[in-house]
Amino acid sequence: MDFTLTEEQHMIRRMVRDFAKKELEPTASERDEEERFDRTIFDMMGELGLTGIPWPERYGGLGGDFLTYVMVVEELSRVCAATGVMLSVHTSLIGWSLYQYGTEAQKIKFLSPLAEGRKLGAFSLTESVSGSDAGAMRTSAKRDGNAYVINGSKIFVTNAGEADLYLVFAMTDSSVKHKGCSAFLIEKGTPGFSFGKKEKKLGIRSSPTMELIFEDCRVPAENRLGEEGEGFTIAMKSLDGGRSGIAAQALGIAQGALDASIAYAKERRQFGKPIAQQQAIAFKLADMATKIEAARLLTYQAAWRESQGVPYGKESAIAKLFASDTAVQVTIDAVQIFGGYGYIKDFPVERYFRDAKVTQIYEGTNEIQRLVIAKMLLAD
Ligand code: CAA
Repeated sequence: MDFTLTEEQHMIRRMVRDFAKKELEPTASERDEEERFDRTIFDMMGELGLTGIPWPERYGGLGGDFLTYVMVVEELSRVCAATGVMLSVHTSLIGWSLYQYGTEAQKIKFLSPLAEGRKLGAFSLTESVSGSDAGAMRTSAKRDGNAYVINGSKIFVTNAGEADLYLVFAMTDSSVKHKGCSAFLIEKGTPGFSFGKKEKKLGIRSSPTMELIFEDCRVPAENRLGEEGEGFTIAMKSLDGGRSGIAAQALGIAQGALDASIAYAKERRQFGKPIAQQQAIAFKLADMATKIEAARLLTYQAAWRESQGVPYGKESAIAKLFASDTAVQVTIDAVQIFGGYGYIKDFPVERYFRDAKVTQIYEGTNEIQRLVIAKMLLAD
């Protein structure tokens, strides 16, 4: 394994770091407070070539690899985790599924605008009755001539309302359980497709999370992604890579919290010296940095394996499990280092603390990650 970054990767990292400092940092707290999604951020990311990093140039992508992509999610999340997850879902879940399973016509019609940043994507698997047990979904898709008629609803959909294209999983044959699940590309504005409740969340509040409602929504048969019955495999495989994206988001949150903690600990004086010189604080910083380094290596390893074309599902689940637990622990420690100032909104660490929690929950709870890891270990 060689994670030595190329000159181009260093350049992209510097560019994204500057972008995050200039365009995300000044408004991150305010967008969080107001639960406000800012589309201009996505537009700017499109102009910088960040909205299709791993996809070939012929589909509007940057022609980069997955290591570059996770590095970008990390850098964005270091400042604004809501922006990190926006890009992660757009790239790893819907973009990946289209690239792997789309026909040439679907790639040109749907992947190119996503990769070029002209359209934002979303992915909807979860329903009120099916979260961890994804195969228990009830949304149905009945074939009717050259179309499918979709009925049902999806919840907890990231980017919902703002996204232009939705990858929706529905049952074309519920008698054969997950083998009857199929995937559909549904455009915003399709008759019969509307939005329900917008969730009020603990963290990543400037990332919209909404319910999708389908009432006799006719979707052209040419919008089916993959074969009938292939939907569950598409969902599982896209989540294999998606989990590296969430690991990168968690890693960025943790690094952002450590950066803030180091700066604060050097400045804040108590008992006649900076608190960084008190061993209780210095050791805490050392432990935070150690966990972050380990999380970074696991995350980069998973992305590197995906780029090399070798199996990465287990490594991605391991990275997500470890990095999200790290993010939660490190942000708790950051709040502790800031003391009373960590508990108020004048400093960003309370936001990092709130944002970290969801990384242990979405794209498969950490209990599901353990299940995935154990299954793969025992199958070897
Ligand atoms: N790759 C390919 N195929 C896979 C697979 C994978 N990673 N995982 C499972 N499969 C296949 C199995 O081989 C099996 O195929 P066959 O029937 O042909 O043998 C089939 O899928 C069913 O497998 P299981 O019996 O293992 O399935 P299960 O019903 O027990 O569930 C699970 C497995 C891992 C628990 C799965 O349900 C799961 O991942 N749950 C979590 C769901 C999740 O991550 N949701 C996230 C929502 S998206 C999100 O959060 C985005 C966001 O907003 C940020």
